[in-house]
Amino acid sequence: MTTRSEPFRVAVLGATGAVGQRFVTLLTGHPWFELTALAASERSAGRTYRDAVSWIQTRPIDETVAAMSVHTIDELMDHDFDVVFSALDASVARDIEPEFARRSLVVTNASAHRMDEGVPLLVPEVNPDHLALLPAAEDGADLPRGIVANPNCSTIGLVLALKPLASAFGFDRIFVSTLQAVSGAGLPGVSSYQILDNVIPWIPGEEEKLEIETGKILGRVRAGTIEPAEVAVSAQCNRVPVVDGHTLCVSVDLKGDPRLEDVREAWRSFRAAPQELGLPSAPAQPTVYLGDDAPPQARVHRDLGRGMTTSIGRLRECPILGYRFVALSHNTLRGAAGGALLAAELAVSRCARRGGE
Ligand SMILES: NC(=O)c1ccc[n+]([C@@H]2O[C@H](COP(=O)([O-])OP(=O)(O)OC[C@H]3O[C@@H](n4cnc5c(N)ncnc54)[C@H](OP(=O)(O)O)[C@@H]3O)[C@@H](O)[C@H]2O)c1
Repeated sequence: MTTRSEPFRVAVLGATGAVGQRFVTLLTGHPWFELTALAASERSAGRTYRDAVSWIQTRPIDETVAAMSVHTIDELMDHDFDVVFSALDASVARDIEPEFARRSLVVTNASAHRMDEGVPLLVPEVNPDHLALLPAAEDGADLPRGIVANPNCSTIGLVLALKPLASAFGFDRIFVSTLQAVSGAGLPGVSSYQILDNVIPWIPGEEEKLEIETGKILGRVRAGTIEPAEVAVSAQCNRVPVVDGHTLCVSVDLKGDPRLEDVREAWRSFRAAPQELGLPSAPAQPTVYLGDDAPPQARVHRDLGRGMTTSIGRLRECPILGYRFVALSHNTLRGAAGGALLAAELAVSRCARRGGE
């Protein structure tokens, strides 16, 4: 736990977007982090946040944040923040995030640096030890500098469901079919004419992310780098007319032919570093098993654990890979802003320089 008396100073890049708005909501009243600056594109800069944002959250904007000015990225570049949360598109993030990482800890949702060798691709309950890739805090800074990346929003739900199974049984092959919410496409996203009464069975780049990122996240730290887990992932991704919450239909070849009850118990009993450390954004249970006849449903279950719990159901045998189930994860909370906040909390808890050290 942090021993610092004053809060960590935080900026949000891409603050007006679908993920940026989640950051603003989650940072309001956060016990460790203080939102001190907002940035977005030239379209928004120079306006108050209230005027710049097209607010889509059900909770109203905090009045203090609503009155803050939105800056360009360049205006914030030379400022000292403890943590910079990035909700930028990958094309914008690619050059900008390394610049901020020279002065601050950058926790990003963009895909630009996820597979970089020195960047932890972090899901705090799954691979907290990957934070070891970050350098130690130096030059009087309280936190290390560098980039920590949040994985793809579907990958996060997948690895949370798989981690207890990896620890208890192991596996080599996964087949996953996704049903992904429209908020995953950001603002303004797909048009209503395209998505209503429809399923779009193609999300550019998404299948590749699931297939590549899973191995890195489930991999091991060896000599300061990640040795990826040897797991073959075959993914098919679909956009569906749901506002929030990505559903995953998964088949997996668990080793040792475990009983179905042992698989259910692995999910029920799963607890990890964020729960043990009592991190502010950690759900009491990272995974819940709803039941064999109780499938996770986006509208019903996405907000479990304040949107940070992955709900799982319909475990049954699979004639091809042995086991199959359905999982659901909130894409803009656990899959983006909430996951990034939890990653920053873990970094504070594990890597912050303590007084007197
Ligand atoms: N949506 C999800 O569920 C989800 C989940 C996981 C990861 N992600 C990733 O998170 C990132 C943000 O996603 P999103 O859905 O929030 O996207 P979005 O709704 O399109 O928001 C993009 C944000 O970036 C800003 N921006 C765009 N161009 C910029 C520029 N040249 N300079 C500075 N700011 C710029 C936008 O500002 P303006 O409003 O001024 O244009 C806006 O604040 C993406 O990398 C995405 O892949 C998204």
